[in-house]
Amino acid sequence: MCGIVGYLGKRNATPIVIEGLKRLEYRGYDSAGLAIIDTEGDLKVFREEGKIIDLERIMPAPEKSFGNTGIGHTRWATHGEPTVANAHPHICCRNQIAVVHNGIIENYKLLKKKLISEGHIFVSDTDSEVLAHLIGYFYEAEHDLVTAVKEALKLVEGTYGIAVICSDNPDLIVAARKGSPLILGIGNDEFFITSDVSAIIIHTKKVIYLHDDEVVSVTKENFEITNIDNEVVKAKISEIDWEVSSIEKGDFKHFMLKEIFEQPTSVENAFRGRLDHKLSTVKLGGLNMTPDEFRNIEKIQIIACGTSWHSALIGKYVIESLARISVEVEYASEFRYKNPIIPPGTIVIVVSQSGETADTLAALREARTRGVKVFGITNVIGSSIARETDGGVYIHAGTEIGVASTKAFTSQVTVLTLLGVLLGRMKHLAPTYGKKFLEELKMIPNKISEILENNHYIRNIADTIKSSTNALYLGRGFNYPVALEGALKLKEISYIHAEGYPAAEMKHGPIALIDKNMPVIAIALKDEIYDKIISNLAEVKARNGRIITIATRGDDSVQDFSENVIYIPETIDVLQPLLSVVPLQLLAYHVADLRELNVDQPRNLAKSVTVE
Ligand code: F6R
Repeated sequence: MCGIVGYLGKRNATPIVIEGLKRLEYRGYDSAGLAIIDTEGDLKVFREEGKIIDLERIMPAPEKSFGNTGIGHTRWATHGEPTVANAHPHICCRNQIAVVHNGIIENYKLLKKKLISEGHIFVSDTDSEVLAHLIGYFYEAEHDLVTAVKEALKLVEGTYGIAVICSDNPDLIVAARKGSPLILGIGNDEFFITSDVSAIIIHTKKVIYLHDDEVVSVTKENFEITNIDNEVVKAKISEIDWEVSSIEKGDFKHFMLKEIFEQPTSVENAFRGRLDHKLSTVKLGGLNMTPDEFRNIEKIQIIACGTSWHSALIGKYVIESLARISVEVEYASEFRYKNPIIPPGTIVIVVSQSGETADTLAALREARTRGVKVFGITNVIGSSIARETDGGVYIHAGTEIGVASTKAFTSQVTVLTLLGVLLGRMKHLAPTYGKKFLEELKMIPNKISEILENNHYIRNIADTIKSSTNALYLGRGFNYPVALEGALKLKEISYIHAEGYPAAEMKHGPIALIDKNMPVIAIALKDEIYDKIISNLAEVKARNGRIITIATRGDDSVQDFSENVIYIPETIDVLQPLLSVVPLQLLAYHVADLRELNVDQPRNLAKSVTVE
């Protein structure tokens, strides 16, 4: 989604901001822009629809757009089409003030009407432009940019991360946040503003994560953080603990492929330091709960969106099976608006890779308003969800750049499975089971590596289905959510319509779709319900369906009805999803790549959905 980059220092801001915007491309956007205050003290604004490369084309050479102060933006259209006029930065009527904005100004229509009646002329359809005019309005009266920004924000309803510059104050950036992430980067005699640390990590690892209602004013020498009521805020400087290489593709063609291949390590990172071999259980200290509090949990509600919702659904199967605690899984967007019933003894868990998904954040707040303890399972350290929960577990998957989530999914599943074992061992699960689980879990990274060795074979299968218009994914039990996830992966990056179903449900409708053209991708692993899914696949075969089967290594019988079989190593039931999803990720990746699509930035999608 939208991204912000700002620079103030001794260097030329233009190439730094452009480079930062390129680092944010993965988030998804459809237009981009940049404003600098040049050496003459003039505000220069450049905007273009399309990609950063299109913006660069309309810009003068960097030496001709020199200025020490600059802000830039990638826009993912919400209010108004992705046109030049709607791209950020937006400017005030006097052409003095430029604003970039992430979030949504909910009362923009009212504010716009008032400003128009005061003589302001609007040129875009966006909600964001109202901020430029409103700040301009107060600046005319106050002649102080920080005050003008605060006065304007007092009138605003909605969410924002903003950065503002003014040609009267070439040595100043004012930035503020409410409900949309914003970070101050502290370099050597230079400062950065960004909505995502990926944009600035090549320059500095020292950052301050701004909180809601905080405003930072940055000059070449210093910065000051105050809240909207002018009280000075003492901020904590954090050190980013990941390397630039984690946001580079290396030898891989796409980030998604790199991230699929990182899973042996990322899954291991999700359980490293969390296994208690002595007691044959698991430790999740970030939950800040006592054994009694764990034992008193009567119900769990897990809230998430998209791929994270699928991992939550696996969490339900695992926790219910191991800990015998009832688990409800909710879409965040539904939970937040339905007046949810949260019985006593319930804990809420929100699952989010980015930690910024607007619906999940709102659901979290709704649950906390009702006095329920909310825990987070997130990837991004310092994210809004990580900060607003009562406790939580980081999945430590490392930065995920590909819009289609892969390694974050397996890391979320790992953590939820650990939670299932922890809760189970607190109750009735035998130590022998705990021991077996720990042994099996430790073998998972190598088993994922073995599956990855089939990459070329899976690409050949992808070649046979790349022209399909529909695909059906089937699984049962722990692998039913994996079927949903496989279908989501295929549709989001290859634009092939795909659906996931619990295999037995097929005969209640989807079976009508089956013919020799539609691939049916079935997860049929050797487990307690193996025979059941084999019967379901026989039904597909009887209707001339073409079946691609994910099967347990050594199971020859699936050959009889499968056009292709992808074998994966054996493991215990609860850990199967960590293996069965990998070939599905590769299959989706190769189909999209063979269709020559933009795998890492599929159309219309954004990495972090910070709007409703
Ligand atoms: C799909 C995908 C999305 C996200 C969803 C939630 O590959 O990545 O469906 O899972 O937008 O995002 P987070 O996990 O950041 O809350």
